[in-house]
Amino acid sequence: MRTSIPGRAVTGGLVGVRLVNLRDFGKGNYRQIDDYAFGSGGMVLAAPQLKEALDSVTKESGAKPYVVYPSPQGALISQEIIETLALQENVAIICGHYEGIDERFTQKYVDMEVSIGDCVLTGGEIPAMLIVDAMSRLVPGAVGKSKAVIEDSFYRGMLDNPNYTRPAMWEGVKVPEVLTGGNAQEISRWRRREAVRRTLTRRPDLVSRASVREYLKGVNVAVIAENENVNLAGLAETCRAYDAGRPYIIAGNHELREAMKEKYPEAKIIGGMKKLTGVIGENVLTVKITASAKINALHSLEAKRICLEHDGNILFVFAQNERMLEGVDGLTGYLFGKCEEIPMSVEIGIALDRLLGKR
Ligand code: ADE
Repeated sequence: MRTSIPGRAVTGGLVGVRLVNLRDFGKGNYRQIDDYAFGSGGMVLAAPQLKEALDSVTKESGAKPYVVYPSPQGALISQEIIETLALQENVAIICGHYEGIDERFTQKYVDMEVSIGDCVLTGGEIPAMLIVDAMSRLVPGAVGKSKAVIEDSFYRGMLDNPNYTRPAMWEGVKVPEVLTGGNAQEISRWRRREAVRRTLTRRPDLVSRASVREYLKGVNVAVIAENENVNLAGLAETCRAYDAGRPYIIAGNHELREAMKEKYPEAKIIGGMKKLTGVIGENVLTVKITASAKINALHSLEAKRICLEHDGNILFVFAQNERMLEGVDGLTGYLFGKCEEIPMSVEIGIALDRLLGKR
């Protein structure tokens, strides 16, 4: 807590860290804080002493802290958990030792039990340091450029791209040429492609909860409308939120186009799919989304992975029913196991969140 970013956060008064010695609350001549575990014989930190230590923290900070107990039995720690903790005013981390702490204390006073990985350490001190370190860099002002925190790939749930520094040639290995070429746009594209490649090969499990919009090129939304009854209220705002531009409404006949123009002035009304693909350009991955399960349709997560792999624009096409998507070329994904009675614009919102994520 004296060096680097956590050190600056402490000296700058952004983060305060106080160590509490459980031994100060020990009982008897030996200041006992633990005892034999009933039934097994290992040593367990005792509940009354832990409670007294916690009370002292509550008294000093003026409010009950959020209590975290690092243990191998806890939920696996993640950036989301760290972000949740960083929002708390006061956090107390209880370092277990030996066999851990009395379960009754955990049940009554621990708000969150977290594990730092599937391995066993000798105590909770190193996990506590990990938690404090990861939390302190999220406190506004702790990291020089707060943009840097948000620009972290992991902030969006993706792995980072590889990094290089001078010398440009080392032991016969050159830095990727794009990085020394000076084209900012190409560098940025390269970094995103590398982050995607690494995430898909090393940690595909991350993709389901990652926010991937920034890793994709243009994203467009089109709805094939059969009649005026399709309810698209709020769709334009939803598309904007996911950086998917103004939605297209495909309406086959003139009257319907006129009616839709009036009803949804924020949308771009177009006569047919062919006209639309002409507008969107080349190398477009078309993903047809239907609300209900269909034989051979992809799970939305698989569609998300394929979108990430695609190095070009993406077009999501929605329709009121599967039949209307039949003539459209592209992947077919589904949202729900069975057809639900959900308004079309809400369905599209759910689909965009499954396919793009949002943080
Ligand atoms: N204490 C001992 N092992 C641990 C782990 N894997 N995570 C958190 N706390 C621990």
